[in-house]
Amino acid sequence: MTALTGKRILLVIGGGIAAYKSLDLIRRLRERGASVRCILTNGAQQFITPLAASALTGQRSHTDLFDREDEADIGHIKLARDADLIVVAPATANLMAKMAGGHADDLASTVLLATTLPILIAPAMNVRMWLHPATQRNLKTLQAVGVHVVGPNEGAMAEAEFGPGRMAEPLEIAAAVERLLAPSGSLAGKHVIVTSGPTHEPIDPVRYIANRSSGKQGHAIAKAAAEAGARVTLISGPVTLPDPAGVTVVHVESARAMLEAVEQALPADIGIFAAAVADWRVDNAGEQKIKKKDGALPNLSLTENPDILATIARRTEGRPPLMVGFAAETENVIEHAKQKLARKGCDLIVANDVSTATGVMGGDSNTVHLVTASDVETWPTLSKTDVAKKLVARLGAMMGGGKP
Ligand code: CTP
Repeated sequence: MTALTGKRILLVIGGGIAAYKSLDLIRRLRERGASVRCILTNGAQQFITPLAASALTGQRSHTDLFDREDEADIGHIKLARDADLIVVAPATANLMAKMAGGHADDLASTVLLATTLPILIAPAMNVRMWLHPATQRNLKTLQAVGVHVVGPNEGAMAEAEFGPGRMAEPLEIAAAVERLLAPSGSLAGKHVIVTSGPTHEPIDPVRYIANRSSGKQGHAIAKAAAEAGARVTLISGPVTLPDPAGVTVVHVESARAMLEAVEQALPADIGIFAAAVADWRVDNAGEQKIKKKDGALPNLSLTENPDILATIARRTEGRPPLMVGFAAETENVIEHAKQKLARKGCDLIVANDVSTATGVMGGDSNTVHLVTASDVETWPTLSKTDVAKKLVARLGAMMGGGKP
């Protein structure tokens, strides 16, 4: 018995060179106990044949919207219903655009529009097509309606180029399918909200107040939580990091927009507030670029930003049962973290020393102290990825009544 025993997967194969990997994906899914049915787009049939797919699935493959035999046999609406999950692999730029735009001009796009099943896409395309604003916009549109994404990976491409755009490997896709269909991690079934990165507070249309946060720690936590089976909403300030796979990402600029996005993402089981929110904003931000005037300095007036963590932790209704804050300190780390825990009303503070010498801000490793009302625990220096995994495991235990 595996996580996929008895599960039914509808695999939509798009027209890209990565289609050959989808044949291996069929094998991987079947050896985990799933049954697989395939739809091939016209483009897919340029790379692989319906016969090859049928030989591996043990079922007829579907290709045409107006196929009389097909419609009599199963019909496109039934195809859109009779499965536990639809996997689109490779999800080409064109297929993603059609999905985002709601097109229905062939069997694959019609089924994808007619379905209410969960959908997982494995994008695969040339790096420039992937990075094109149109594709990125389509990706966001799809993620916003709950489409799950695995990959793409970075690497050498068929056209001798390098960058993101390679389809995730069949084993990675199979693992994503397992996570979706049988969430079994320590945070399975939980909704986790994570804030990450800095905020930008405008001074005028071209200038802003910011800080040195890279978002690496927050993004790593979002990824680790998704890997532990949680549904994750990551609310990210401006960062240069890619969106973690399998996570719904809301991009914001300012502290106020971040608070609004957090409130919209509620309810949640756990809130992890790793963002380095700017404490102040300019309350007389210029609508036009401020010009230099005979050596006179601009008169910027600052006002305090809302404290997102405290606002959410102090809610009487809809407070996530487990609220985790971070404390970025340059001195008296533990003492300040304890004060923050009490002041903000959260359950746990992850405190770290961000003085320049530690290289934490923007770096890849972190030394943290877990501070609760009754305990302080210092972890050894770890990579931010490992801090994230360890923290997520700890939160899983806390949700299950384990060690705080
Ligand atoms: N935080 C927040 N909203 C703010 C400021 C901070 O949600 N406006 C959150 C951070 O995400 C973090 C925690 O509060 O989880 C502590 O952030 P930190 O910058 O260390 O503390 P501050 O409250 O800004 O206090 P100070 O700058 O005085 O250390």
